[in-house]
Amino acid sequence: MALLELRDVKVYFSIRKGLFSRPMYVRAVDGVSLSLDRGETVAVIGESGSGKTTLGRAALRLVNLHEGKVIFDGRDITGLDEGELKWFRRRAQMIFQDPFSALNPFHTIKYILEEPLILHRVGDEEERKERVVRALEDVKLSPPEDFLRKYPHMLSGGQRQRVVIARALILKPDLIVADEPVSMLDVSIRVEVLTMMRELQRRYNIAFMYITHDISTAKYFSDKVLIMYAGKPVEYGRFSEIVKEPLHPYTQALIEAVPDPDPDNRFRERRVPHGEPPSLVSPPKGCRFHPRCPLRMDVCEQDPPLIRVGDRTVACWLYAGK
Ligand SMILES: Nc1ncnc2c1ncn2[C@@H]1O[C@H](COP(=O)(O)OP(=O)(O)OP(=O)(O)O)[C@@H](O)[C@H]1O
Ligand code: SF4
Ligand SMILES: [Mg+2]
Repeated sequence: MALLELRDVKVYFSIRKGLFSRPMYVRAVDGVSLSLDRGETVAVIGESGSGKTTLGRAALRLVNLHEGKVIFDGRDITGLDEGELKWFRRRAQMIFQDPFSALNPFHTIKYILEEPLILHRVGDEEERKERVVRALEDVKLSPPEDFLRKYPHMLSGGQRQRVVIARALILKPDLIVADEPVSMLDVSIRVEVLTMMRELQRRYNIAFMYITHDISTAKYFSDKVLIMYAGKPVEYGRFSEIVKEPLHPYTQALIEAVPDPDPDNRFRERRVPHGEPPSLVSPPKGCRFHPRCPLRMDVCEQDPPLIRVGDRTVACWLYAGK
């Protein structure tokens, strides 16, 4: 049984231009399915505004769904309210992009890390301190004693993001959604922080949803990948297969696999075709990528079905009937 299953998830935000105008919908996530086993990782990749954060929030039931289902460990949690989600809040955590606003500036690092344990009534004081120290060791803030009494402003951006990661780990969750966790960090430490997160993810067998606009960092979280375009899933499958042979024209535009023996050098970003991602209030009819797609055909003005090709799914008419 999968740990997390998203079934045809749709999240629409209603917006009103004027007081008396009819509400319109931003179709931020428009029919996404995925499944994640224990200890498995999925990278969710797409341009800005493609619905990645909203999908991550939907998986954690931080937004309500317009349609679809979220199943966690066999339980349908789609319609549960906050009171009914308490057990789930302990088992699923989120890491946000901005380490500067994620930590309360008035609390010590010890309290910041201890707070989730207190809220969920875990252990006595001594046990909690042990867990805080271990969490600091896990994220390589050492010696841990030096950090316990510090405040967030005394730490660098990289150290703060390590505290954010430690806080996400402290309840020993089964699932973490990490939303662009390194994009605000200095380029020189991104790989180090990503590698550390991957190590911890493996050590504690945590399922991870890694959200990023930068495909070259996704290789650190590489079991599966979901490529999104304008709220829609365009390609979903094993990361290694998709990187080797991207099928969807949008994925092909994002990735260029070059024959290089060094796997680290296999990514070269190709320019995505001219044009802007479409409006999510009135997206183009049919394939949302068709105004930019170099391979579009007449049929592309109709919505492409999700087509199974081997182990993956692709939303593109090029693969219909194959
Ligand atoms: N609370 C909200 N109310 C109205 N529209 C929203 C809300 N949250 C997100 N949106 C819209 O939904 C769309 C998807 O946003 P989302 O933040 O999920 O994209 P993203 O892929 O995470 O982008 P980025 O890479 O910039 O973080 C955008 O058009 C955004 O403006
Ligand atoms: S469905 Fe058509 S427009 Fe869309 S990606 Fe495929 S070929 Fe391009
Ligand atoms: Mg986002």
